[in-house]
Amino acid sequence: MTTDLDQLRADLLGSIDAAAGLEAIEALRVHALGKQGAITGLLKTLGGMSPEERQETGPRIHGLREAVTEALGARKAALERLAMDARLASETLDMTLPADGITTGSVHPVSQVMDELAEIFADLGFAVASGPEIEDDWHNFTALNIPDTHPARAMHDTFYMSPSPRLRGASGEDSPRLSSDRAGRDRPDAGRGEGQSASGDSLADMPLSPALSPEGEREQKKMLLRTHTSPVQIRAMKATGGNAPLRIIAPGRTYRSDSDATHTPMFHQVEGLVIDKGITLGHLKWTLETFLKAFFERDDVVLRLRPSYFPFTEPGAEVDVGYSLVNGKRVIGGSEGWMEVLGSGMVHRSVIAAGGYDPDQWQGFAFGCGIDRLAMLKYGMDDLRAFFDGDIRWLKHYGFSALDVPTLSGGVGA
Ligand code: DAH
Repeated sequence: MTTDLDQLRADLLGSIDAAAGLEAIEALRVHALGKQGAITGLLKTLGGMSPEERQETGPRIHGLREAVTEALGARKAALERLAMDARLASETLDMTLPADGITTGSVHPVSQVMDELAEIFADLGFAVASGPEIEDDWHNFTALNIPDTHPARAMHDTFYMSPSPRLRGASGEDSPRLSSDRAGRDRPDAGRGEGQSASGDSLADMPLSPALSPEGEREQKKMLLRTHTSPVQIRAMKATGGNAPLRIIAPGRTYRSDSDATHTPMFHQVEGLVIDKGITLGHLKWTLETFLKAFFERDDVVLRLRPSYFPFTEPGAEVDVGYSLVNGKRVIGGSEGWMEVLGSGMVHRSVIAAGGYDPDQWQGFAFGCGIDRLAMLKYGMDDLRAFFDGDIRWLKHYGFSALDVPTLSGGVGA
């Protein structure tokens, strides 16, 4: 037994010392100490020994187990150290190599211009308001003094939503899914920033319901994609309860069934609204002048207010900015020619009333402006459709850095 144990000890410790890798160590552990292992087998024999024999052999077997366990741990640590040293020697880090570039996205010109507008108008005390893009007929038209039979409705090329089956059943008529009412005639679409008109076949396939009261109209909820941001005027007025001054801009998406180089079915507008006591056309003109000078970053921006008709204003005016020709290109500033940029006016009494204000006490001015067109004018793009194609090269070229935060005092869009 003695020689057996000594031999086993010498064999095991020798093998452990010679083990070349972590797998070999594990195999040796199983061989010596595993369930069927040599030392485990020896420990099992202790039960069958006489007390004297156990007293003499027991400590030697336990001692062997401890020695082997210790040797396994030590060899394992040594091997791990060797592996780490080898890795450190092979994996060197060259601190002189240039760092990988960081790829960042860019801010779309429309978002950039919206930020610029928010900054400019924040400095003038305006808050930013918003409203739903799927709007009801009452907010989009009726409350803005455009009743059902008003010809201006046909000028908006509206996308209507299908009425819910409940309403369809109630009216006894089947209605189109998404239809438009473009009427193929000139229309004042100042909110798109340009006095262009669209022509097309008459798709007057939407059943027009007889004029309803505001409540009835709202209840019926004829839904559409808002054709302008003007319905936010009504929502913002209603939100104050009709007894507090209001100064808001409302930038957002708008929709009309129209498509060419300067018109896309989805486009962006910004609405402006001021409601207070004693508001005059002078306030409107000063505000627009201050805004356009800040936006185009030029003091020589000249405005021209041309009388025009918008059902929700009285009086209404289209606003042109003057441009000069520099090397055959139009540059904002001066007055060699005029470009229409927005529609505006004093808020019509019936719109003030629809917003919940008393028109004998409160007055206001409003304006609506095409954001895409503002971006095109300021940053020199010529095809509106490229704005929404999602071409990464266009975005890289015309996009802005996320860190380029515009402020009025710092010079916007720098
Ligand atoms: N909503 C008009 C459009 O889309 C633009 C407009 C004109 C807005 C005059 C106004 C305004 O607030 O006063 O054509």
